Amino acid sequence: MKIISVVGARPNFMKVAPIHKAFIQLGVRNDSKAQQVEELENKNLHGEKHAQINTQPLTINHLICHTGQHYDEKMSKIFFEELELPQPHFYLGVGSGSHAEQTAKVMIEFEKVLINELPDLVIVVGDVNSTIACSLTAVKLGIKVAHVEAGLRSFDRKMPEEINRILTDSIADYLFVTEKSGITNLLNEGISKDKIFFVGNVMIDSLVKFMPIIQTSNIRSIYELDKGDYCVVTLHRPSNVDNYENLKRLIDLINNVSKIKKVIFPIHPRTKNNLERFNLFYSLNHNTIISEPLGYNDFVSLIKDSVLVLTDSGGIQEETTYLGVPCITLRNTTERPVTIEVGTNYLVGDNLDLAYELAEKVLNGDYKKGQVPELWDGKASERIVKTLMEKLTIYNL
Ligand code: UD1
Repeated sequence: MKIISVVGARPNFMKVAPIHKAFIQLGVRNDSKAQQVEELENKNLHGEKHAQINTQPLTINHLICHTGQHYDEKMSKIFFEELELPQPHFYLGVGSGSHAEQTAKVMIEFEKVLINELPDLVIVVGDVNSTIACSLTAVKLGIKVAHVEAGLRSFDRKMPEEINRILTDSIADYLFVTEKSGITNLLNEGISKDKIFFVGNVMIDSLVKFMPIIQTSNIRSIYELDKGDYCVVTLHRPSNVDNYENLKRLIDLINNVSKIKKVIFPIHPRTKNNLERFNLFYSLNHNTIISEPLGYNDFVSLIKDSVLVLTDSGGIQEETTYLGVPCITLRNTTERPVTIEVGTNYLVGDNLDLAYELAEKVLNGDYKKGQVPELWDGKASERIVKTLMEKLTIYNL
């Protein structure tokens, strides 16, 4: 049996790494067809005439395909090293482009991989363009698809990620959900409950696993930041950073917050390009440290020891909730309501006066403490792999 997991953009790597690990713990292989054929030929040379490819449960292969949607050292390569992901078995090298170009290029290249490898299952994670592109390619070839982080909905169809989520969920065969809102959303969209599995959050699996290494990061000393005495900002949503007025208002907010507390702002390539294009790069004041995108361990270490995070990311709302760090989400909607209802997250929309008021309160120690959501316990990947093995064994053996 052969399974291909897809990674494309930065937030995918920490989701696929624990799934890969869970497969490895089952004793599966992770070599490609070419390697198997070579091994088989060697065996035949040595008289093992009846050896076959993929006949036993023990010969389940878990392979990784990197679409290359993100390709920079800092947006991609460093995550493979830190998260102990093997080198991708397939690299599609699609790079940037318009949504149609990027999605189409992934589909064309991924179809070649699928036709050559004929996997039994494709696993996609999250909501990026690579997620929908690979799901669509696989189902059209009759290959089953599992979607990890299914069911999240912002109900804002202007977000490209929302379209990617809805479409992927509508064609996937196995839908693995991180929080209960996901079950409700999928049922409301008419998806059969037999396909839905509430398993917890694979991103938290990575956080739990790498915490001992995260704790050894020296990122704070590099930037001369004291524990509990600085804020972290991240911004990359097109709705926030592609428009001059919106980006300018956010820069003003960061400048105001940084007058109370030091700010560190690891900057996403999209945001950097736009700050330069709009001539806003140098309007950030000296109390804000700008850094390049950080690796996984350094970034999680930075948010863990911060007093407040301001972000428009999806995943960081979850990581701060798990870590108990207050988070102000600079968006109108969140597809992760559990982080607000149970966790430490506040949603402020485009009301940046409210964002500033909340930041002041948090910096004065007045904030909700939050709890860790159900099943965010570091074992989601094990549950996913166990479920898949049960389901696929029934169909294939
Ligand atoms: C993508 C995802 C988004 C995710 C985000 C995390 C979609 C629709 N969007 O958005 O859901 O939250 O990744 O980062 O899939 N760039 C580089 N180097 C890179 C990657 C990108 O310079 O390694 C530049 C590109 O040239 C482009 C810009 O950054 O100009 C945006 O990249 P793109 O992948 O199109 O979208 P993101 O904004 O990163």
